[in-house]
Amino acid sequence: MPLAHLDGIRGDFELWGKLEGSNPSGSVKDRAALAIVREAIASGALGGGRTLVDASSGNTAVAYARLGELLGFPVELYVPRNANPERLQRIRGHGATLILTDPAEGTDGALREARARVGAHAERYFLADQYHNPANPGAHYATTGPEIWRQTSGRITHFVAGVGTGGTISGVGRFLKERRASIEVIAVEPSGPMHGLEGLKHLPTAEVPSTYDPTVVDRTVRVETEEALDRVAELARTEGLAVGPSSGAAVAVALRVGRAAPNACIVAILPDRGEPAAKGTS
Ligand SMILES: Cc1ncc(COP(=O)(O)O)c(C=O)c1O
Repeated sequence: MPLAHLDGIRGDFELWGKLEGSNPSGSVKDRAALAIVREAIASGALGGGRTLVDASSGNTAVAYARLGELLGFPVELYVPRNANPERLQRIRGHGATLILTDPAEGTDGALREARARVGAHAERYFLADQYHNPANPGAHYATTGPEIWRQTSGRITHFVAGVGTGGTISGVGRFLKERRASIEVIAVEPSGPMHGLEGLKHLPTAEVPSTYDPTVVDRTVRVETEEALDRVAELARTEGLAVGPSSGAAVAVALRVGRAAPNACIVAILPDRGEPAAKGTS
């Protein structure tokens, strides 16, 4: 997907945003969902009427639902009730079954419910498990990383990405460090367990996904929801970009990184488009 030069945000450094909202279902999660589904069909884990089951904060669910509709397999998704309503509507619109879970339990709780559903009936279901499926970081190693390397002509010095499953940062981080070990990989997390940065996890209080590879992450920076939303507003004003809260969080961190490294060439992942805010989310 395109790399946008964020030159309305001033600094001596170069800042680029990778516009993942331009993917077919509107987010970075198309990459992981497609890789997971392709591998499952190839191995025979999906097909023969089996239902794909997974937990998601919203974006992966939309991607799975769209693939299920296109390729003709049933999809059942476990999503916290406070997810963005527009996204929930799109999941249902693609014909998937949607089970809304306790928002206080987050995606960890949704995954527990998905696992319980599949339980002893492995013959009827395929548990896609984006939080533990190596095809997720594998998709970013094979596609997002090489795209960023090419789009910056290998000039990238810093890579900034939010952590949900950790698939993006782990796959891209591994690819970039294999190209040049000095490229700094910076993870973005919410400042605490209760936050408005849909799609991101506060790892100290969450079930750490095995798709997150801490060995390719140089440091983690935590961001308040309010600061992320300020950057979302700034991106709309100065760049004409409508992006979601996790994009604001990544740009907030990229700006801090750039101010301390004047000649840097920074790429931040902007995971999805802005949607109208969910009602009553914490
Ligand atoms: C809006 C948003 N931002 C960031 C992420 C994190 O991406 P990853 O799961 O690759 O860590 C997600 C994942 O669901 C997301 O939906």
